[in-house]
Amino acid sequence: MDRLFIFDTTLRDGEQVPGCQLNTIEKIQVAKQLEALGVDVIEAGFPISSPGDFHSVIEISKAVTWPTICALTRAVQKDIDVAVEALQFAKRKRIHTGIGTSDPHIKYKFNSNREEIIERAVAAVKYARRFVDDVEFYAEDAGRTENEYLARVVEAVIKAGATVVNIPDTTGYCLPAEYGEKIKYLCDHVEGIENAIISTHCHNDLGMATANTMSGILNGARQAEVTINGIGERAGNTSLEEVSMILKCHKHIGIETNINTSKIYPTSRMVSSLMNMPVQPNKAIVGRNAFAHSSGIHQDGVLKNVQTYEIIDPHDVGIDDNSIVLTARSGRAALKSRLKVLGVELSQEKLDKVYQDFLKLADKKKDINDDDILMLAGADRTENHRIKMEYLQVTSGVGVKSVASLGLNIAGEHFEECASGNGPVDAAIKALKKIVNRQMTLKEFTIQAISKGSDDVGKVHMQVEYNHQMYYGFGANTDIVAASVEAYIDCINKFKI
Ligand code: KIV
Ligand code: ZN
Repeated sequence: MDRLFIFDTTLRDGEQVPGCQLNTIEKIQVAKQLEALGVDVIEAGFPISSPGDFHSVIEISKAVTWPTICALTRAVQKDIDVAVEALQFAKRKRIHTGIGTSDPHIKYKFNSNREEIIERAVAAVKYARRFVDDVEFYAEDAGRTENEYLARVVEAVIKAGATVVNIPDTTGYCLPAEYGEKIKYLCDHVEGIENAIISTHCHNDLGMATANTMSGILNGARQAEVTINGIGERAGNTSLEEVSMILKCHKHIGIETNINTSKIYPTSRMVSSLMNMPVQPNKAIVGRNAFAHSSGIHQDGVLKNVQTYEIIDPHDVGIDDNSIVLTARSGRAALKSRLKVLGVELSQEKLDKVYQDFLKLADKKKDINDDDILMLAGADRTENHRIKMEYLQVTSGVGVKSVASLGLNIAGEHFEECASGNGPVDAAIKALKKIVNRQMTLKEFTIQAISKGSDDVGKVHMQVEYNHQMYYGFGANTDIVAASVEAYIDCINKFKI
């Protein structure tokens, strides 16, 4: 079997998604899970972009042993210097440097020309090689770069010492055949290509990221850059779970990865929960409906033999159907074991607290599912918030105006207000705005139920604009009006004043 290296960029390209930012402790939690999952390279951040990213690369480097830790830079010496410093504790380290190579990038972004771009690329790779043995070069927008010129760039950076050459389809533009041909063209025309690994990095703007990645692999790429749940800029990146399961299902391709597929589902849940980024229900491999057979014909077939409609055994990706539901009668051990399956390990003290919250929720809601549990385990993230909801009372109905009365604790002081609105959420948010008297505008508001029952927990995602900046908030409660106010408060707590 040939080997494909998995380069995970959840913590860099994935984390660039507005509203998905993680703090360093959460990033370490994800990085350790990626290590357990078996990824070869973790792109831990873009150190020069912010002190937070710099610090996270340092802490992830300390926390993780086996995977190579990679830091992104532009083809700029200062970026490389900062990346080298951030990687100082990594046991295996890689610098990922690069520059745009397509005509629009060369002309509009750099106001430059093709020859000068090659010079800058070569200089950056040579400079990075002074500090580390493993240097990956990315030709940004390679998807729209003419193959002949791209081959010249790739040949030059390999000569300069690049060990991996990344061919990003930055805009998600390529067709699978076109992207595959690009990789083949490089294999056939670049002198010294055998001295470097070719990497795919595909975006999903036209829904072709995984198809393009597979086409690249089939044509000679041996590293795939992916994210958990396919998260990433705009429509996202190629998803780790799809590429690794395609290669596992299609053994005849003869390429394997180091991914322990039974850890895919827990990792997906962890990333979704920490980033407050729901997974679409029909998402391949990890979506809620990925293994749910609802039509009568399918159910009948699956009951006779699962092979009739299932190409993947859910257990292979870590979905253990017998333990998905917990109830008020479940003990601490059941909760602990379920959390472990989901990739969350808690101290005894934290587990006791989560268990008490679990019992309260189980009183209101018959079946507790994985999303509920993850929400409870992450609930203490609001503990240090300056603004907290103390109480909320709403009256609403048909033919009457809704009225809300809200009590808040702001930095230890009590405030309360009443307001009416065209519905309970409107009334509650108006009361909130009366207390927090700022020019803020609600830009996006989604309510999502997790399972099907009327006793379900509602999750609310919000975007609020304040001072020309967008803030993202999250709330979860069996009462959707309360969840909405929690999400709004979550946004306000993040305001940079
Ligand atoms: O999409 C892209 O081109 C990137 C590079 C920075 C690797 O993310
Ligand atoms: Zn990208």
